[in-house]
Amino acid sequence: MSTTEPAVELHGITKRFPGVVANHDIDITVAAGTVHAIVGENGAGKSTLMKILYGMQRPDEGTIKVNGEVADLHSPSDAIARGIGMVHQHFMLADNLTVLENVVLGAERLHGIGGGARRRIREISDQYGLGVEPDRLVEDLGVGARQRVEILKVLYRGARILILDEPTAVLVPQEVDELFANLEDLKREGLTVIFISHKLDEVLKVADAITVIRRGTTVASADPKEVSARQLAELMVGSELPVPELRESTVTDVPVLTMENVTVRDATGRAVVDGVSLTIHEGEILGIAGVEGNGQAELVEAIMGMLPAESGVIRLGGEDLSGRSTRRRREMGVGFIPEDRHRHGLLLESPLWENRVLGHQTRSPNVKGILIDRAGARRDTERIVEEYDVRTPGIDVSADSLSGGNQQKLIVGREMSGNPKLLIAAHPTRGVDVGAQAAIWDHLRRARAEGLAVLLISADLDELIGMSDTLRVILRGRLVGEADPATITPDELGSLMTGAAEGSVA
Ligand SMILES: Nc1ncnc2c1ncn2[C@@H]1O[C@H](COP(=O)(O)OP(=O)(O)OP(=O)(O)O)[C@@H](O)[C@H]1O
Ligand SMILES: [Mg+2]
Repeated sequence: MSTTEPAVELHGITKRFPGVVANHDIDITVAAGTVHAIVGENGAGKSTLMKILYGMQRPDEGTIKVNGEVADLHSPSDAIARGIGMVHQHFMLADNLTVLENVVLGAERLHGIGGGARRRIREISDQYGLGVEPDRLVEDLGVGARQRVEILKVLYRGARILILDEPTAVLVPQEVDELFANLEDLKREGLTVIFISHKLDEVLKVADAITVIRRGTTVASADPKEVSARQLAELMVGSELPVPELRESTVTDVPVLTMENVTVRDATGRAVVDGVSLTIHEGEILGIAGVEGNGQAELVEAIMGMLPAESGVIRLGGEDLSGRSTRRRREMGVGFIPEDRHRHGLLLESPLWENRVLGHQTRSPNVKGILIDRAGARRDTERIVEEYDVRTPGIDVSADSLSGGNQQKLIVGREMSGNPKLLIAAHPTRGVDVGAQAAIWDHLRRARAEGLAVLLISADLDELIGMSDTLRVILRGRLVGEADPATITPDELGSLMTGAAEGSVA
């Protein structure tokens, strides 16, 4: 390519929200045909900046240039017209529509809504190895597959500059490698990628250039060939990289959750959870490793009573859970950090203190007698904000005004409240920065030492290995192997997860 113009130049960008300066005086130059990473703590202002570049938010000050031309972006369609596409931190697909309908929605004039569109989707999917099937319903897809649909949707609209906001947070290592291979292909064809991630090792692997944002402003540029993950973390937060480890065992022989031969079938009669038996004891963290879509979500939903088990028994502290509602199970002492914080974890338009009550509306400190105890709920929300370092101007702002990582911290704090006996934790530190991740691990360790039993599901294999006392591998709905977290490596675990190696690794 002969062009030497930068793909994107952001100069002097400032954006204020009530009580918060999300961006101030940001300066970034993104060279064309490169992967440019942006890193920074939760709430540093990364997503806000990207929404500005995508025309979703108007900056209060500053200029944007795209391919050397000043761009005044009033809406995403202005950005799309300039070849900018964005895959959001939280997916924006409509659940009840098919992949094709989602991709075509709003872009009907490109290739119509029928055969032409279907052909084009297949073409793009093949070209970048995305494995997207146009006629699947989005609600049936796991997070990894949804993400590939989002990427395809952006490419379908002809994007040449792709913004990916935490694309790897939801992926297992093999999928991350696939995505990075896709990014190489995009780059080779001259596309530019702006990439946001909290996983600094990945940033170093994939990025050609790195910009560090701290408290709303650009503080450093780093060369991925010269800087280490540790140095990058220091630039971001001024602290060292934490390591997830449990130290001494606190596992007892008192069972908290027992599952015996539990089977769950989907609408087509396929066993999505297939004869699963497991026991989690007081003080034990049991990690489930698996490529997303192998029954983890259904396993969790069966325990929570959101999906009926066809056969088998699930007990909490000796009590059979069958026939008990999700609410009743929660009242019996089950905390739940859901996989998708927007679908199951938060009411985005409600204030933080109301979100504190969500799922806990029948229990102290949220009720007095039969009435919601506003003051109690508010006080306890203040406590969570404090203990879990939720960065927010207050508890009356709506949940959607928090940054993604701060939403996650709020959910973790809520679900750890009220001394649960069992915590179902699906990706508990997803989207959380390295400092806050260490803090969440500390909270988990402390609760475990006091007897909490945890079912941990995580795509972050370092977290899974580091935090689990016991590791089981799920493949096509079955528990197929056991691994010793003291000795197994992420690579070995990855092979077990894909079924490349069968059985146990000790
Ligand atoms: N719509 C909004 N209304 C009010 N405040 C907002 C809004 N969007 C973002 N903010 C605030 O702006 C700041 C930056 O948020 P942003 O989402 O850009 O952070 P981030 O760097 O993407 O963090 P994370 O890593 O957690 O996703 C935060 O303090 C956030 O609370
Ligand atoms: Mg963000």
